[in-house]
Amino acid sequence: MRIRLAGVLIAMAVAPAAAQWPPTRLQNVKVLSPDISVRALVDTMKGFTRALGVRCTYCHVGRDGAPLDSFDFASDDRLPKQKARIMLRMVMAINEQHLSTLPQRRDPAIVVSCMTCHHGLAQPRPIQQVILTAYQAAGADSAEATYRALRTRYYGSAAYDFGEVPLTDVAAAAQDQGKAQDAIRFYKLNVELLPASGFAYRQLGFGYLELHDSASALAAFTKQTQLQPNNPEPKQMVDALTKKPHR
Ligand code: HEC
Ligand code: HEC
Repeated sequence: MRIRLAGVLIAMAVAPAAAQWPPTRLQNVKVLSPDISVRALVDTMKGFTRALGVRCTYCHVGRDGAPLDSFDFASDDRLPKQKARIMLRMVMAINEQHLSTLPQRRDPAIVVSCMTCHHGLAQPRPIQQVILTAYQAAGADSAEATYRALRTRYYGSAAYDFGEVPLTDVAAAAQDQGKAQDAIRFYKLNVELLPASGFAYRQLGFGYLELHDSASALAAFTKQTQLQPNNPEPKQMVDALTKKPHR
């Protein structure tokens, strides 16, 4: 579009690409309070980056590492920014329309924030889903490599559950698809990474039973008895597999 008005041309020539940092005035704030201070808005934005594990450029037009005054924060060109507005509306609705109507709210009240669901990830997928997707697309090697890479990168953060359950869910899904060998592989990965988990050995034991490998099942249940000396179940399994009568 050609601009004919001399005044506009002059204004465009004088105005830098995206004003200054911090901005003196907010131009395109539609969901947050229109009279939010620039400082409070920027704090909210920093909260977004932490909750999603991203940088400003995930949602805003600008170059990573470039000075913030070169960003066009008011632009809605980036799809994640548009999604984030919907998320903001959703979070406000949860807190203001739903949680606020609970009888006997906990004190202090527990509110939902971006972190509640995103816990450091832009795509808040449970690890089971990530690993199963890799498994379906490219097999057990790829699934295991994906798991190990995620663990190396995210262990100790809130991003993913590296506890004893998720790999057994993946194994169970493989078993349901008739892939008992792959299931064993996931159960074994679980005991390798969580050698103190009696549950991981229990699931490995039952995985071997599916394959009718009672020697390996016995070894797994024996290990479970050592880790869980007060649990009667692995003792019964050991007895059954060694053909001793139940006590
Ligand atoms: C997850 C997406 C997301 C991330 C990451 C994010 N923002 Fe935003 N930002 C938004 C949304 C959405 C708005 C508009 C809010 C509204 O309409 O109420 C916004 C608005 C702004 C505005 C107001 C622009 C204007 O004048 O209208 C500024 C300034 C801003 N963000 C700065 C930042 C900075 C600095 C960072 C990095 C620390 C950042 N943002 C990270 C989503 C994001
Ligand atoms: C109740 C859980 C929940 C809360 C709270 C939540 N989100 Fe989300 N968010 C999701 C889910 C689930 C998706 C993925 C939806 C899809 O694409 O299938 C998502 C997707 C997104 C995306 C798109 C990511 C991408 O690249 O696909 C952005 C950006 C986002 N959320 C920002 C936010 C911000 C900012 C907040 C806080 C204001 C927030 N979300 C709060 C559940 C939540």
